[in-house]
Amino acid sequence: MTPSFLQGNTAVVGLQWGDEGKGKIVDFLTEHADVVVRYCGGANAGHTVRIGNEKYATHLLPVGIFRPDVLNIIANGVVLDPEVLLREIDEFIGRGIAISPVNLRLSYKAHVVMPWHKAEDEFREAAAGDKGIGTTKRGIGPCYADKMHRTTAIRVADLDHEERLRERVQRILVDRNKVFKALYDAPPLEWGPIFETYRDYGRRLKPYVDDSTKLLLDAAGARKTVVFEGAHAVLLDVDHGTYPYVTSSNCSALGLYTGSGVPPQYVQNFFGIIKAYSTRVGGGPFPTEQGNNIGDYIRERGNEYGTTTRRPRRCGWFDAMAVKYAVDLCGITQIAMTLLDVLSGLDHVQICTGYKYRGARLDYFRADMDVLAEVEPIYETLPGWRGNITGARKFEELPKEAQQYVKRIEQLVGAPVKMVSVGPERTATLIR
Ligand code: GDP
Ligand code: IMO
Ligand code: MG
Repeated sequence: MTPSFLQGNTAVVGLQWGDEGKGKIVDFLTEHADVVVRYCGGANAGHTVRIGNEKYATHLLPVGIFRPDVLNIIANGVVLDPEVLLREIDEFIGRGIAISPVNLRLSYKAHVVMPWHKAEDEFREAAAGDKGIGTTKRGIGPCYADKMHRTTAIRVADLDHEERLRERVQRILVDRNKVFKALYDAPPLEWGPIFETYRDYGRRLKPYVDDSTKLLLDAAGARKTVVFEGAHAVLLDVDHGTYPYVTSSNCSALGLYTGSGVPPQYVQNFFGIIKAYSTRVGGGPFPTEQGNNIGDYIRERGNEYGTTTRRPRRCGWFDAMAVKYAVDLCGITQIAMTLLDVLSGLDHVQICTGYKYRGARLDYFRADMDVLAEVEPIYETLPGWRGNITGARKFEELPKEAQQYVKRIEQLVGAPVKMVSVGPERTATLIR
């Protein structure tokens, strides 16, 4: 039975710096859903789903793909790397997952990540040295930049117009090759093989191409239940995150309207995902980072290595100041807390309840890296708990200190924790 807090359509959004376990929670919620939509970012995302002993990592496919009868939509806000998508489709079909135009649709308006986007991402990061963002080098920023430039962009619909695609690839590369040579002394990219490869990708993708707005309005008309699978997280949102150490899309819940083409009243539930501590991959301010044995303890127990790049994730205490901001910004109605099991075995756990900045307490989170670089976290210390909690299936079965930790966090961030995850597997999930 659908839990009462999930009647209607639901947006799932990470409230920290990514990797909160959105894949796991979307997969769990999709038991009660008909449609799953990815609306932002691209192959920089890495969402993990564990079903029994099988582990799947998706970069572009919505995680509804693991449930038969669910329609998966890659909407217009996504920047699509056809190479990655087709590889993912082939891999999962090889593992027995049914994928066809019946359960996967792709917006004709989505922008295509081209080889020169990935090259530019690499060049820019290398040239920036230690001033770089620490991107995933998946071409995300350059592709979104071209979307805004317009004359140098390629959309999924363009793959189907052979002559136009040929002309565009040729013309764009004249320009890109000049820039890459001048700035990075890079050898030219050849337009011929790129054109042919992407034309062929277009032919393979053609049966999947559709209109996400129309599909979603039809789903609403048929009273279907829709889950929006947010990628990345609020603090990585290009407008509201810790700019410039962010990704290039509106990956807070606010991005879902433009990113999938539905009106605001389409969504009723805003499900925020938090991990029981904080992590971040790449550069940027991280006030509660623990570059010490606590950080190492969390990284090893939580297997905190990037799903997309395998980079070790930076780890630290839970930051209620930052998450409260994310809750407010997205109108979060309920929260799922993941990875609580990772904190077992510590004598004490700490929660950051506020920041001190130049001698005074800040009254609200500020997404400004100059401020965040200087703030001093104010911590509250709570007792830790011992033992393996992964087998718990009811909130009341958790050690009382773990329960107290969850309750304190929901008080501080201002939204109820309705779900707690105590292990990577689908069933290791408690509903409150
Ligand atoms: P996403 O990007 O938000 O989907 O998260 P990732 O998949 O990148 O990273 C989350 C990692 O934590 C994955 O390896 C999951 O399998 C794992 N995970 C999710 N929930 C839990 C949990 O409650 N406990 C543990 N131990 N692992 C979890
Ligand atoms: P999921 O959906 C964690 C980070 C990168 C880098 C910055 C910019 O799995 O939670 P980009 O390649 O997007 O230009 O990199 O954003 N980043 C993520 N970190 N999880 C993600 O996605 C991320 N997507 C981007 O590490 O710091
Ligand atoms: Mg991830």
